[in-house]
Amino acid sequence: MKQKLRQILDTALGDIQGAVSKEALENVRVRFLGKKGELTAILRGMGALSPEERPAMGQLANEVRAKIENALDEAASNMERRAFEARIARETIDVTMPGVRMATGRKHPLNIVLDELCDIFVGMGFSIAEGPEVELDYYNFEALNIPKNHPARDTQDTFYVNDNIVLRTQTSGMQVRTMEKQKPPIRMIAPGRVFRSDAVDANHSPVFHQIEGLVVDKGITMGDLKGTLEIFAKRLYGEDTRVRFRPHHFPFTEPSAEMDMMCFKCQGEGCRLCKGEGWIEILGCGMVHPRVLRTCGIDPDVYSGFAFGIGLERIVMRRYKLDDMRLLFENDARFLSQF
Ligand code: DAH
Repeated sequence: MKQKLRQILDTALGDIQGAVSKEALENVRVRFLGKKGELTAILRGMGALSPEERPAMGQLANEVRAKIENALDEAASNMERRAFEARIARETIDVTMPGVRMATGRKHPLNIVLDELCDIFVGMGFSIAEGPEVELDYYNFEALNIPKNHPARDTQDTFYVNDNIVLRTQTSGMQVRTMEKQKPPIRMIAPGRVFRSDAVDANHSPVFHQIEGLVVDKGITMGDLKGTLEIFAKRLYGEDTRVRFRPHHFPFTEPSAEMDMMCFKCQGEGCRLCKGEGWIEILGCGMVHPRVLRTCGIDPDVYSGFAFGIGLERIVMRRYKLDDMRLLFENDARFLSQF
C-alpha cells in the first residue's frame, strides 16, 4: 500500500506539471481526489488494515493528499499569473510610436462660397428660406407666369415626375411659396439645388445650384434692385468691382435685366475669359411682375418688389479660377482637399 501511495503521488505530480489548462488541472483533481478518485479508493480501503498499520498508513495517505492539493493550488496560481503577464505584455502601449492621423473632412467649395453669399445678404437684412427640390408645376412654372405651352419651359427642359410634379428647374418658385406664407415687408434669399435635362460638359450639369432673392415692400423701385445687387457684387468681388445691367426677359419680372460684372482679368478690354465681351454675366433679375404678386395675394397697386437669381457654380468657378464645372461634382478628394 505504501508503494501504491507513492506511485499515486508521483503520477499526480507528473500530471499536474504537464497540465496546460485549468480544465486539465481539474481533471487531475477529480482523477485522484474526487469521490471516485484513486486516493479516495485507498482511504476507503483503510478498514482492511490491521490496527497497528492503520495510523502510519493514514498519516501517509493524508500527506499524499496534502501534497497533491498543494501542487494543484500552486499550478493553478502559476497559470493565472502567466496568463496575466501575457495579457500585460500584449496590451503594452508604446507611447513613443507615431500616431495614426485621422483624416478630417472640410467644406465643399460650393458651400464655402454659398456661406459667404448668405452672410452678405443676411448682413443686408435678408432671411434664408428653403423649399422642396421635388416641386409642383404650379410653383415652378404656372404661378411664375409661365403657363403650359410657354416657350420659357423649353429652355428649362426638365425632369417630370408626372404632369403636375417636376424636379424644380429654378429656385424662383420660392418667391411664390414665400409670398403665400408671409406678408410684406419681405426680404429673403433661397439657396438650393435645381435640375435640368442638360448634357454634362465643362459648363453644364443636370444638377446645379441657384440662390433666389426676393424683396417686396411699399415703394420698392429698380433703384433698390440696382443698389442692392451692386453692393452684393462689391462685397463678393471687391470694392472696385464694376457692374452693368442689360435688358432681358423673364416671364415673372417686368422689366427684367441681367447683371454683368466687368471682367476682372482684362478690365473690360475683352479677353478669352470673357469671350471678348469685357463683361461677364452673373445673375438674372427684375421687378416682380404684377401678375405674380396678384397670384400670391399681394396687391400690386400697394406693393412692389424685385427678384434675382444667381447661379452658384459660375460664381464659385470664377472665385477659384476653375475651367470645368465637373470638378465640383466628381468628389475627387485630391481636388476638394485644396480648399
Ligand atoms: N430663374 C431664372 C433662371 O433660372 C433666374 C432669375 C431671373 C431669377 C430673374 C429671378 C429673376 O428671380 O428675377 O434662369
